Order: sequence, then structure tokens, then C-alpha cells
Amino acid sequence: MKIPSQVEHCIRELAAGGGTLNCYIYDTRPMRGKIAHLAAIMPEGVEIFYAMKANPHPAFLKAALEGGARGIEIASLGEAEKAVAAGFAPDQLIYTGPGKSMEELHWGVEQGIRTIHIESLLEAHRLDAICAELGKTQAALLPTNADFDIHEAQTKFSGGSKKFGVDEEKLGDVLPQILALPCLRFRGLHVYAASGVLNVVDLLKNCELVFDMARRIERDYQGVVCDIIDFGGGFGVDYLETGHDFDPDAYAAGLQKLIDRYGFAGRTFFLELGRYLAADSGWFCTEIIDIKESRGKKQVICAGGINHFRRPAALAINHPMAIVRMHRPSWFDGQEKVRDEAVYFGGPLCTGADKLANNVLVKAADVGDIAVFGYAGAYGLTMSNMEFLSHGRPEEIVIGE
Ligand SMILES: Cc1ncc(COP(=O)(O)O)c(C=O)c1O
Repeated sequence: MKIPSQVEHCIRELAAGGGTLNCYIYDTRPMRGKIAHLAAIMPEGVEIFYAMKANPHPAFLKAALEGGARGIEIASLGEAEKAVAAGFAPDQLIYTGPGKSMEELHWGVEQGIRTIHIESLLEAHRLDAICAELGKTQAALLPTNADFDIHEAQTKFSGGSKKFGVDEEKLGDVLPQILALPCLRFRGLHVYAASGVLNVVDLLKNCELVFDMARRIERDYQGVVCDIIDFGGGFGVDYLETGHDFDPDAYAAGLQKLIDRYGFAGRTFFLELGRYLAADSGWFCTEIIDIKESRGKKQVICAGGINHFRRPAALAINHPMAIVRMHRPSWFDGQEKVRDEAVYFGGPLCTGADKLANNVLVKAADVGDIAVFGYAGAYGLTMSNMEFLSHGRPEEIVIGE
């Protein structure tokens, strides 16, 4: 991985200030560029929402707002409040995710958010009751657990038994009951197959499948139109640096062909993207505190571990990384160092699970150098075990917007 010069410059400035370096550095210009590019290439009717679970930091919300995202995909009241504080209007919010509380549903209806994605029949009944109480109607999408599995995805949201949405084969039973609820306005389907998908063909297969489902519904239920179709997120990033990144242009071209083939022009298509928009706008930078040799392998211990950057351990993959050399003096003769070898990077937590990376080939690293992990703008601090062992919170530094 090549560390951008502005990131390295920031690291050197921070290091010069003294203290142990352990922080996220954000530059959201790549995210703005990606939103602008997607807006330019996607077929008519496609709306880009930022899935803020990827990174709820205000700089990322600002990049989404100013970069031209249509809105924010929220999955909690806490996210809703942050999105509104960042300047998004309630009608720019779409509310997904299982297990919404009565308070959360109430807030959504009262504020008039764009769509609420009803995860179960019970949630539909709760939502309908709240709407009746408030004298309002609510646009709703139906998340569907399609009988479709993208094998190579990092995380799967459909296929098999899932906590997300309603099983595709139960639609015939569930949909008429939802259509009968007086305060819900059924607008269409939400089928999110998987996250971290690099293969455009797989994601387009998901789109085709949803189009088939929409057609079946419209054939079976007179007067019902799926005028909004939400494909979820899922655009991947090349964590393993294989050189084969997700190709948004191929996706856009493929989606246009599908829209034409199904005669679905004039409808609205949601994309709720997290990882693809945010990942390359952040770096996790953590100082090497100790290096030890243990039974033939170097153990490199950093200031922050899964408490600050949990994703590599949680998903069992290495993020791209590089070392910023600091050339600090040794504490004693014979102090361990790393030279042209494959090593383990861990944090300071007292658990074997505290892994940042394993078997990473490193040219040179010494105690006091800074390990920099790339693609850390998405699912970095936000999905970490911050409280475990009560270390402090790493600073989040914004160097470019
Ligand atoms: C409902 C929903 N939408 C969007 C996303 C964002 O997915 P991604 O980061 O793969 O784009 C997620 C991620 O878990 C999700 O659960």
C-alpha cells in the first residue's frame, strides 16, 4: 500500500508533537469523488444513499451531503439524529434494519421520513398502529430474504435462514396482510444480497432477481406497483490489493440494460452504499509499542487493537498496510526489529483475538514506527470494541474535505 503524502505528513507532524500516536486520519475527498462519479454514470432513477453505519463521523456525513448523495440510510434513532444534525432533512432518510423499537418507529412517522423498511409482519402492524395514532400514512418498502446467495461475499444478507426481511417464499402469505393495513403505503421491495462484493455480475444477478420478484407481485396483485426498488449496498473494495476493484461503470451499464429489458424506466432505484463510498477516505495509524520474537515469528504490538480497529479480526482478512519509519533510538542492544519477514500485528488487549493483521510481509519496522492500515474509512472505529480494557478513544483527525 502506498500511504498518501498528506497522510504521512500528518503522521509526522503528530509524532513530532510527542506522545503515543494512535488515531484515525480522514480525508473525505475520495468519497466526494465517488458520489459524483456514481451520480454521473448511474441510470435515470437511481438514487444514492450513504449507509452511515460505515462511518457516522460528521466529516463523512458532510461529504455525503455536499457530495450530492440523495440521502442517508439509517438503522437507529441515534443515526437519524446524527444525520439530521449534519443537515439532512427527515424526508431524505430511509430507515432499514431489524428490531426497530416503538420509539424509533414513532420518530420516523412523526418526522415524515421517506421510507420505512418493514422487517416483519409484527413491525408492519406496529408501524400501522403508530400511523393511525398520529393520523398519518407511511411509505414502506418490504425487505425480502431472497433465495439467492452470493458465495464470494464477505457478509451475506440473503439466502438461507436470516434475521433480515421476510423470506421470499413467504411473500404470498405476508404481502396481502401488509397491503391490507390501512396506513401503510407499500412502495416496493428491498433486497440486499451481500456486502463486500467485487464481482459486478453477482450484484447484477441480484438486481435481475428483484426485478423478477417485482414482476411476479405486480402480476399477482392487481393495482400494486413496486415503484421503488432498493438493491441495498454491497459494492466491495479491494482489501487484498489484487488489482481487481469493483467496477461501477460496468454495474451502471448492466443495470441500464436490465431496466430496459424489464421496461422499468420511470421507477426509482435506491442504492445504500457504505463501504464503497467511505473505505478509502480513512487510515488507522497506530504506533508500534513492542516487537517480540515468539517461536519463530515476530509479534508486533501496536497502541491500538480490536478496541479501535476490529474489522480485520472480525472478518478474518488483512487490510492493506504500510509502515511510516520514525528511526527512533533503541532502548537496548539487541532490541527486536523486523526485517523482510512475515509478521503478526496485534494490539494491547489481553485476548488472543486482538489481531490487526497476520502473516504480513514487512520490509522493515522498529519500535516507535507507525503502522498504517488503509481502507479504514468504512467499518473502522464504529464497529470496534471501544470499551474493552478501557483504553482511551483514538482521535479522529480530518485533513481533507
Ligand atoms: C440495510 C443495509 N444497507 C446498507 C448497508 C451498507 O452496506 P455496504 O457497506 O456493503 O455498502 C448495510 C450494511 O450492513 C445494511 O445493513
